[in-house]
Amino acid sequence: MVAGGLEGLAAEVAACTLCHELATTRTQTVFGVGNPRAELCFLGEAPGADEDRQGEPFVGRAGMLLTDIIQKGMKLRRQDVYILNILKCRPPGNRNPAGDEVAHCRPFFERQLEIIQPKFICCLGSVAAQNLLETNVSVGRLRGKLHDWQGHQVLVTYHPAYLLRNPAAKKDTWEDIQLLMEAMGLKS
Ligand code: URA
Ligand code: URA
Repeated sequence: MVAGGLEGLAAEVAACTLCHELATTRTQTVFGVGNPRAELCFLGEAPGADEDRQGEPFVGRAGMLLTDIIQKGMKLRRQDVYILNILKCRPPGNRNPAGDEVAHCRPFFERQLEIIQPKFICCLGSVAAQNLLETNVSVGRLRGKLHDWQGHQVLVTYHPAYLLRNPAAKKDTWEDIQLLMEAMGLKS
């Protein structure tokens, strides 16, 4: 039933044409990947070129860093967690999602999280954090503590693409991830 709910939703997403520009420029929609019963979801911004081509979130350079965080950092497997984005279509030229695009996609990511019911959501970067939590507060001020969103515990940290450009911030993200692991009971 859980997976069925996600499959039906994925089919709705694949047929969506609410954003004319995105629907006419995408190769495919990028719904999400991982364990449909995951305790932890990672929420990103939008597909890039690699994701648009492969149909899976976080498979490019930033995705490799996210995979390292999950596997080397948290000692989980990528298939144990669930990975999704705010937007299901690639914005041309990787521009930031527009407000109306996020509004069109909001029912999709909210229903996706409702079906999965993760105990924890890790927001990667400002687009994920500010749109989920409906705030204008910066990542720098949202990170380092747990927030509540509809009964889910939410951690905000830097986007892996930001970490690739600003490696000095990796130690902050590692602190955030350790806080998350402690809350998840993954630290001995
Ligand atoms: N950046 C994101 O926010 N999401 C992806 O899926 C890939 C890169
Ligand atoms: N600003 C962003 O947009 N993303 C980050 O991860 C950090 C700062």
